[in-house]
Amino acid sequence: MGSLPVVLRIIGNSWKPFKETYVCNRYGALRNPAFEPSRAFAAEAHIGNKLEYDLLWKQAQQDPIAFWEDAARNITWFSKWKKTLVWKEPYAQWFVGATTNAAYNCLDRHLKQGLGKKTAILWEGEDGSSTETSYESLFEQVCQLANALEHKMGLKAGDTAAIYMPLIPEAIVAMLACARIGVTHSVIFAGFSGNAIKDRVNDAESKVILTADVGYRRGQEVELLKTVDSVIDQMPSVSHVVVLRRKGTTLLGPKHLDWKDLLKDQSKNHFAQPFDAEHPLFLLYTSGTTGKPKGIVHSTGGYLVGVSATAKWIFDLKPNDRFWCTADIGWITGHSYVVYGLLAHATTIVLYEGAPMHPHPGRFWEIIDKHRVSILYTAPTAIRAFMRAGNEHLQKYQLSSLRLLGSVGEPINPEAWMWYHQEVGKSRCPIVDTWWQTETGCILISPLPGVIATKPGSATKPFLGIVADIVNEQGESCASNEGGYLVIKHPWPSMLRGIFKNPERYQESYWSRFPGMYFTGDGAHRDDKGYFWIKGRVDDVINVSGHRLGTMEVESALVSHPAVAEAAVVGKQDPVKGQALVAFVTPKLEQKIAVKALIQELKDHVVREIGRLPGPMRSS
Ligand code: WT7
Repeated sequence: MGSLPVVLRIIGNSWKPFKETYVCNRYGALRNPAFEPSRAFAAEAHIGNKLEYDLLWKQAQQDPIAFWEDAARNITWFSKWKKTLVWKEPYAQWFVGATTNAAYNCLDRHLKQGLGKKTAILWEGEDGSSTETSYESLFEQVCQLANALEHKMGLKAGDTAAIYMPLIPEAIVAMLACARIGVTHSVIFAGFSGNAIKDRVNDAESKVILTADVGYRRGQEVELLKTVDSVIDQMPSVSHVVVLRRKGTTLLGPKHLDWKDLLKDQSKNHFAQPFDAEHPLFLLYTSGTTGKPKGIVHSTGGYLVGVSATAKWIFDLKPNDRFWCTADIGWITGHSYVVYGLLAHATTIVLYEGAPMHPHPGRFWEIIDKHRVSILYTAPTAIRAFMRAGNEHLQKYQLSSLRLLGSVGEPINPEAWMWYHQEVGKSRCPIVDTWWQTETGCILISPLPGVIATKPGSATKPFLGIVADIVNEQGESCASNEGGYLVIKHPWPSMLRGIFKNPERYQESYWSRFPGMYFTGDGAHRDDKGYFWIKGRVDDVINVSGHRLGTMEVESALVSHPAVAEAAVVGKQDPVKGQALVAFVTPKLEQKIAVKALIQELKDHVVREIGRLPGPMRSS
């Protein structure tokens, strides 16, 4: 990238830059430009009137409970709540006494509205094959699996099931089937190792594992079933492993059940029972500052209210949208903005099972054109990787179906923001830079694309009803442009309900640093226009390619190797991944392996212990 500043003039498009001319070094804005929403976008947006929005925002800051009560209308309830919020720090209960069903909200109610034939999922395989699943077909598969889980495996509300699947429609079937019968699901990212599965399944005491024989990535098979089988004897709570056989693998294990066989004689109907709003919909394990991942607990009612309201207003969802969130369902982004937030609005979603650059660097753009994607939601790491690959890979594609772009997972540098805006969005599509966490359940800080002027690198303002602040060491609000800690000062419906079986860690991690405030673990500052600029983690958590890793977790993995005496892991700036891991390792004196071989051996060891996440490491 040339570093010589050039004057860039944005003309003839629907965006009005704050100042018409600004200086930037190619894509990197240096003078803090702001991009106002275009009139055309605002005219069509759910929230498109700035004055009305300002008023609504102020009201929602003063009375978040009233705002969320109103937002709860996006959800179909089987019975109404008696109290909107009961708050006994650090535990919140929202919509107390109300009942609902998450799968009903994502399926049944759409069928009742005559949307059964609408496409729910457009799935694209890495080899270019694709399938379409209608809402009706998704409903039927979910009912069949729900029936099988209840009648063949004896699962009931309150049990936990693990899902270890590739990014295919059946993974969503699995999530919704659990939700339908009140079984708390625990999705384990398909890149995790056998050890990671074992820890999560044992902590959650999952009774069933839903998996597939293989996934496909970079033209290779990912042996999911083999990985599960390698630790099956160490997971005593598991009674059945349901296997979707994609390539006809013979099932030999005593706990194995064939997915298709199981569904074959099940009814395509199932009565969705009401569950308490506070019933735990899912657990999702995420890294913290110790060696052991924490099981974040999410509710049903409050979670659905949070994800459906943010999906509708932040992505300005319309009935004809085709929404592609590139996250895997193994992460919170996949839970909230692939599955629950989107299916709750009967949106057509796109799923891609494969690597972003496979088999060529234009793969993303090809998929967008093929499926006429209108909203793309992806991570800065991916954006930077495409930027690096060169513009020639995009220029072959129209990208004319796109109308809105989103970014998530890590701070986006202004240079990548400008590239995304100009090359992908053709200076036509607003960008929503969305800040949130596994714990927050839904997006908490983001532009509303019809009313908030965006600035490259800023997630802009807290969402309606979110009381966010930046405080100093003493917990006092920081002045403009003063760096501090990002905190949330009022409960919100989709906040975590705790750490599974670990109330002390819950209290300690989020509620002890600043009494009365939820501590996010992020550093930030606010500019004089009230815009939030998130800097990233201030704890021992490293954000690699938009995914969270605790340094302690990797250190524990390293010291578990017989050749290692001591290990320390730190983050290092990386031009593509945001941060990369660097491990400093002291080998045991008696070890005889050559340094190079040891480095490779330790990299493999970390992959075996945790999974394919940490990526290549350098060491010294
Ligand atoms: C951490 C949460 C929920 C998204 C997927 C990651 C960082 C997330 C942004 C953003 C700056 C961001 C924070 C946060 N982060 N989005 N738009 N700008 N930083 O979820 O694994 O729970 O990680 O990701 O540091 O604390 P996660």
